[in-house]
Amino acid sequence: MSALSPRHLRVLRALSVDCFTSGETLAQRLGCTRATVHNAVRDGMRAGLPVQVVRGRGYRIARPVTWLDAPSLQDALAARGMIGEFHAHLDSTNSHLLARAQAGAPHRTLVCAEWQSDGRGRRGRVWLAGLGTALTFSLLWRSRHAVAGLAGLSLAVGVSLRRALAAQGVRNVMVKWPNDLVVGEAKLAGVLIELSGDMLGPSSAVIGVGINVCAGADLAQRLGRSVTDVSTHLGSVADRGALLLALAEALDDGLAEFEAHGFAAFRAEWESAHAYQGRAVQVCGADARCVAGRAVGVDDYGALMLDTGAEIRRFHAGELSLQGGLD
Ligand code: BTN
Repeated sequence: MSALSPRHLRVLRALSVDCFTSGETLAQRLGCTRATVHNAVRDGMRAGLPVQVVRGRGYRIARPVTWLDAPSLQDALAARGMIGEFHAHLDSTNSHLLARAQAGAPHRTLVCAEWQSDGRGRRGRVWLAGLGTALTFSLLWRSRHAVAGLAGLSLAVGVSLRRALAAQGVRNVMVKWPNDLVVGEAKLAGVLIELSGDMLGPSSAVIGVGINVCAGADLAQRLGRSVTDVSTHLGSVADRGALLLALAEALDDGLAEFEAHGFAAFRAEWESAHAYQGRAVQVCGADARCVAGRAVGVDDYGALMLDTGAEIRRFHAGELSLQGGLD
């Protein structure tokens, strides 16, 4: 996969969605060569940006994109004591921030990539996101608790993100254990948390969030499963910058709440927002062995409680799906 340089991203940001602009005009406007424009468009298309190229007319983006304005986002994050790091392209914001954390990056550092080419999902899966269609970012949270004390963190993160989406006008989002955000059966966002630390604390968490902002239908077709995006549920193209800020702030507030009170403070809200609460489900482990039952809730540590008919079983990890469902 080729890289997307800041120089090429600058060219892509200058493309219009409304009208065609010739390579020559763009090159003049940006003070670069026509070859740079050509190469930027090639890289943008490889990264998933739908650019229309018409001989004699030039280039045009086929779908509206709201680009991230790094300086203003950095200022807004700094105003609440957070550090924002914005990149044109990273393989994975989690991988990048894990390395930065090991090298001493400060608490509440947020790393965001305009395009993430090798996003990692839970259980070794990949996380796909085309340029301009998603938000992919990671937040470093240094906790005074030991790793064991962070049980339930991923569920608290889901609740925090859902709060931010509701405040932005996306109100029908539910959580799905352990930490997906869904609308109906369609996945809207995923969270990957990577922990490190000692048995007795302190610890640190790199909290990676991927959220589909637009073009969910294209992604669903590519993945062959149900996926949705924020813009569909807003009824208009979501402003990725405003959304990122809202998500980062809600996450930051939620993490402070979790640090002080643990998952118990989120539990009732989480249960009321669980897409599968009270439903017939199955939980499958890494060995693909599945247990069926009714999802009756979660405990104060975020473990899923499953009523199997014979007993209430608790699961700290696994893959949840509806019995007879597709997912
Ligand atoms: C999942 O649902 O499997 C979790 C997906 C998490 C994806 C995000 S995107 C930003 C961060 N960087 C990564 O490489 N992964 C997470």
